[in-house]
Amino acid sequence: MQHSALRQAITDGEQHLRPVLAEAQFQRYVEVGLALRAAFRTPALREVFIARLKPHRRLLAGPLPAGIHRHGMLPPQAPRRSLAEITDAELAQWLVDDGRLVYGEFTPQELDNYFAVLAPWLPEQGRGGGHFIDLGSGLGKVVMTAALALPGMRCSGVELLGYRHEMAQARLAALLAAGDAQAATAIAARVRLRQQDMFEADVSDATVVYLYSTCFAPLMERLGEKLARELPQGALVSTTTVPLLHPGFELLQRFDPPSVAWTTVFLYRRRDASRGAPVPARALYEPDGAAWEAAVRAAFALHDAEQGE
Ligand SMILES: C[S@@+](CC[C@H](N)C(=O)[O-])C[C@H]1O[C@@H](n2cnc3c(N)ncnc32)[C@H](O)[C@@H]1O
Repeated sequence: MQHSALRQAITDGEQHLRPVLAEAQFQRYVEVGLALRAAFRTPALREVFIARLKPHRRLLAGPLPAGIHRHGMLPPQAPRRSLAEITDAELAQWLVDDGRLVYGEFTPQELDNYFAVLAPWLPEQGRGGGHFIDLGSGLGKVVMTAALALPGMRCSGVELLGYRHEMAQARLAALLAAGDAQAATAIAARVRLRQQDMFEADVSDATVVYLYSTCFAPLMERLGEKLARELPQGALVSTTTVPLLHPGFELLQRFDPPSVAWTTVFLYRRRDASRGAPVPARALYEPDGAAWEAAVRAAFALHDAEQGE
């Protein structure tokens, strides 16, 4: 009974209204995003759109950048600069920022599935101590579900965006209020939420690192290097959609959809640092150019069809 009340306290919020980015710190993001979105929507600019994005396609999670979709965080206005006025370096930086601002999460059922397949790899199925860390923890639901599912582990979340970190803290307060005092004390002692850049987070004592990496394709190379450098041997890393191709990690299991979730979940283990030949990371995440271009042209056609409706 108490457990279901606790679970209830950490549902909802996933459809939270994305704020339109108006703060000064996002001015450059908005400027470049508006130029790119206009080029996507304007038939005469589409060859330029393809030519400019193609060399950067490894920075994309899907064929198109998330921010130019209808539900992105760009304001509804015309661009001040055209795509031709945006430099290549600005474009590349924009694509990195765009991918990491995307929000997404597993459903409660998918999280249950995830913890069920993870537990057998943990000391005493998650009751034997250890540290679970969600890098890019958003609203904190994975961290809090982990605290309930893995009662012996400390559970931490690291989130970059202030408003998401605040939503996570409010959710944690709701979770603590939903249980009795003893349960609240026990959970509060094990859960930590931090507003921080994940590249600055200390993961050196992690037992498991969780990455909802579906939109982290441009960050995977750097993340792989950080995790290989800092994680203890034997630590586990799980990723979604995007594999972790760094040679410091061995694939333990791959869960294709819909066994755990709507997307593929990969489970890795930090291998003995002395094994595995170095592989140039850049080559690992380069999508095929022709396939990418075909998918973009299909997206143009879909956009035009929707406009005509
Ligand atoms: C796809 S969401 C996943 C949220 C959460 N892990 C979950 O599964 O429910 C990814 C989150 O990573 C955050 N993020 C992106 N780059 C980050 C960084 N450098 N440091 C910390 N968080 C970051 C985003 O703001 C976003 O909230």
